Formats: sequence, C-alpha cells, structure tokens
Amino acid sequence: MVRVVVAELGKLTLVEDEALEPGPGQLAVAVGAAGVNYVDGLLVEGRYQIKPPLPFTPGSEIAGTVSAVGPGVTGFAPGDRVLAMCGFGGFAAHAVINADSAVRVPDALDFPRAATFTQSYCTALFALRERVGLRAGESVLSLGAGSGVGLAAVQVAKALGARVLAAASSPEKRAASLAAGASEVVDSADPEAVKKAARAFGDGGVDVVFDPVGGELAPVVLRALREFGRYTVIGFTAGIPAVPLNQVLLRNRSVVGVDWGLWALTGPDRQRALLEDALTMVADGRLDPVAPQVRPLADVAEVIADLQARRVVGKVALVP
Ligand SMILES: NC(=O)c1ccc[n+]([C@@H]2O[C@H](COP(=O)([O-])OP(=O)(O)OC[C@H]3O[C@@H](n4cnc5c(N)ncnc54)[C@H](OP(=O)(O)O)[C@@H]3O)[C@@H](O)[C@H]2O)c1
Repeated sequence: MVRVVVAELGKLTLVEDEALEPGPGQLAVAVGAAGVNYVDGLLVEGRYQIKPPLPFTPGSEIAGTVSAVGPGVTGFAPGDRVLAMCGFGGFAAHAVINADSAVRVPDALDFPRAATFTQSYCTALFALRERVGLRAGESVLSLGAGSGVGLAAVQVAKALGARVLAAASSPEKRAASLAAGASEVVDSADPEAVKKAARAFGDGGVDVVFDPVGGELAPVVLRALREFGRYTVIGFTAGIPAVPLNQVLLRNRSVVGVDWGLWALTGPDRQRALLEDALTMVADGRLDPVAPQVRPLADVAEVIADLQARRVVGKVALVP
C-alpha cells in the first residue's frame, strides 16, 4: 500500500509498504479520503508544538471503509463507513486507528466531505457554542472566512442563528463564504476597512469575532467589538499579535482562547458528544458541509504549499 512518509523535516515522500494489521482495540481502514489542515504543514516542517519522532506519516483526519477489526473491538465490522481523528498516519491508502476514535459516517456525507469535517466544524462549534455562548440574533465577524475553520465558522454561526460578516483576501474566497451563508463580505486586505464594515454590520460593533488568522488584523478588529463582545483566539496563520488590553477593558469585552485540539484529546467522551452534535446538525440539514477540492495523494506536497501560500479556497481532501 502507498503512504506518505516524512523521514527528514520538510520533505514528503511516497513509499510502498505492507498494510498494518489492527492490534487490540484498533480498526484497519481503507482510506477513502484524508483531510488536509494548515497544521499539517507546520508538523511536516517541525514548526508545530507537537514534534513526532521521525519517520512519521502525517494526516490527522480520515474517512474510509473498515477493512479489519482488531481483537476486543465491538460495534464495528468490515465494510462500515467511518470517520476519525487519527492523529497521524492518515495520508496513506490504509490507516490503523483506535476504534474509540471512529464514528460512523452519515449517509449525507461522501468520504471527502467526511474527512474534512471534524477539525474545522468541531473547532467552530466548540468556539462559538461552548466558549462564547453565541446566541441567535447576534452578529459574528469571521476572519479567514474563505477556507478551513473560517468557512466552517460561517456555517456554524448561521446554524446557531447568528448573522455573519465574512472577511477574506480574494474574490473567490469571499464568494465561497457567501455561498456558505455569510450575509455580507469584506476584503481583509485593509484592517481599517474590516473594522469599519464590522461596526456597520453590527450596529456599532459585532458581538463575536472568530479569528484563525491573527497578525495585524487582530488589534484593529478587536476595536470593532460592541459592548460585552467576545473575541475568539483560534490561530495565527498571519502571526501572533499583541493585544492592547485597554481595548478589552473598554465596553466590557472578552478575549477567549480556544484550544479545541487539546480539549478533544484529553476528553474523548466530550469530543465524541460534540462531534455527534455536529453530525446531527448535518443530518437534520442545519449544516451542509462545504465539498472540498479532491486531489490525489501524490499531490500532498503541492497541496501543503498551496495552503501555506493562501491559494486554497475551502478545504482539500487527498484521495489515495
Ligand atoms: N485553536 C484550535 O483549536 C484550532 C483548531 C483548528 C485550527 N486551528 C488553527 O487555525 C488556523 C487556520 O487553520 P485552517 O486549517 O483553517 O487553515 P487554512 O484553511 O489554511 O486557512 C487559513 C487562512 O488564514 C489566512 N492567512 C492569512 N495570512 C496567512 C499566511 N501568512 N499563511 C497562510 N494563511 C494565511 C488565509 O485567509 P485569507 O487569504 O483570506 O487571509 C487562509 O485561507 C491555523 O493556525 C490552525 O492551526 C486552531
């Protein structure tokens, strides 16, 4: 079987080797699609807080068909369609995963959409519902809103009854966020223009900013939060900004950190409940996850380079 290997930091190679057998508590899965996230590029380059020993196979989320069931596993059988956050090993034709990380894929989702769902939509739901208690009728500014978690946030906010202003850097990304349900869009190139648009959108300021981007936008759009507004800190693709704390005091604002990854890893039961809620929202039509671009596994290096160069609209799923 084919898999991607990082034997040297920054270098992705495709190799052929034997498919692994599932051990106790594990499932072997024929990978139908693997989701690619910004963090994969950081891991491959050794720039992420988690540094796996070399060699390793990246790929943290997959969807596919169970091909074998390890000793002691109940509730799954060969042929079942599953999705899972697998940590590593997803960029491969076969993956061995812990059975307790697997969830059945609803009929409504094909493998590419299922494989690109968990990280983006669970982060958005955790941030907006659990961390800042978004309420129906509130207004949200979603940054980086034409891709990854930013686009998921547009859909989740709308599903929770909020109105969304989406900020993104290109016409294609802004069109994607409108298609996902944003009420209005703004070009993110000029932070002052984003602040002005957010103040107009939210009648003096928005209730929530969803920020996976950081950089120079953050301290400016913090000023576009209305009274009791909440600023969610998701990620720093444009760099880690300094926050002017006086702007947090003014209007009784809050800055709220969101570490869905660690929360999910250290609480598998609560993560499973969150994922099941998100999948229920798909099943009853409140969420219609955006179809990703589908690319062959052999394009992995190019896809990661595209993500790092901001060329990806929406998400990418690699298909072995
Ligand atoms: N806190 C958590 O629990 C959590 C969970 C998941 C992801 N994250 C983080 O969220 C961030 C986004 O992840 P993602 O998978 O959604 O990424 P993505 O699909 O690549 O989207 C990131 C967006 O950031 C914007 N951006 C601005 N400057 C950039 C730069 N220099 N390089 C790359 N992108 C830049 C781009 O939008 P524009 O072109 O429109 O500016 C890009 O589309 C990452 O930092 C990731 O680690 C955090």
